[in-house]
Amino acid sequence: MLEKLGRNLPCWCGSGKKYKVCHAAFDERLALAKAQGHIVPHHKLIKNEEQIARIKESCAINVAVLDAVAAAIRPGMTTAEIDRIVYGTTTSLGGIPAPLNYQGFPYSVCTSVNEQVCHGFPSEHVVLKEGDIVNVDCSTILKGYFSDSSRMFCIGEVSEEKRKLVEVTKECVELGLEQVQPWGFLGDVGQAVNDHAKANGYSVVPDIGGHGCGLEFHEDPFVSYVTRRGEEMLLAPGMIFTIEPMVNMGGAAHYTSRTNGWEVFTRDGKPSAQWEIMVLVTETGHEVLSW
Ligand code: MF3
Ligand code: CO
Repeated sequence: MLEKLGRNLPCWCGSGKKYKVCHAAFDERLALAKAQGHIVPHHKLIKNEEQIARIKESCAINVAVLDAVAAAIRPGMTTAEIDRIVYGTTTSLGGIPAPLNYQGFPYSVCTSVNEQVCHGFPSEHVVLKEGDIVNVDCSTILKGYFSDSSRMFCIGEVSEEKRKLVEVTKECVELGLEQVQPWGFLGDVGQAVNDHAKANGYSVVPDIGGHGCGLEFHEDPFVSYVTRRGEEMLLAPGMIFTIEPMVNMGGAAHYTSRTNGWEVFTRDGKPSAQWEIMVLVTETGHEVLSW
């Protein structure tokens, strides 16, 4: 038998405020949504002010690292050089690259070129050349708090069709972001992303997606882009998650490298793009924390 938290006791969120003036009304709203059959966020997914402030500090480093990559990236550069920039910049700012040794991942960053969908290994043998598109996916740990975002870079002049893929994928993220508001649903985000990709003749990778982030690298919920409006988890203030669709110029089918178990490529060899942002659900809408 679950007892209700006393209304004068400290709130479960760790704010130090009394429950009745903190998350009591919030819990009632969640209970109602649950009774209506919706998936509702667990309390551990709701960050308090203190946690949000720490996560933002981590995000600031992540953005600075991506900015450092943006300033240096050019034709003729190897992706191993990007890995060194990410390691060097992150650690000099007091952070740790979250990918490094994460479930055995051997580098500080994922660099995914052209038909590589995600989790590309930086390499001395991968030289960026004019016409390539590359996703650089950075994640940072600062004092135990996580951040995660990625950008696409066009190397020199790229073909019109690749440029459009990169542009439309960014628009997908922006359209998804517009949907983020308290008491909306994760499916609102998913459908906005999917509709825009489909309208441009692209496909969205269905089984790799976004995630909650902040206290851990990957938290619930799984953020899918093949979902429908009004479905999936209820969005509540204090939730932080990523929007990071992988959009393929051709089919959605992909395979994972049998040699290393990480690198993901499109089946048809056609290019794939991805942008990733980290977003906080606020009382009135949303706030982008890392891009
Ligand atoms: N940054 C990736 C993401 O968006 C993390 C991949 S796991 C790693 O979730 F080990 F490859 F970094
Ligand atoms: Co991510």
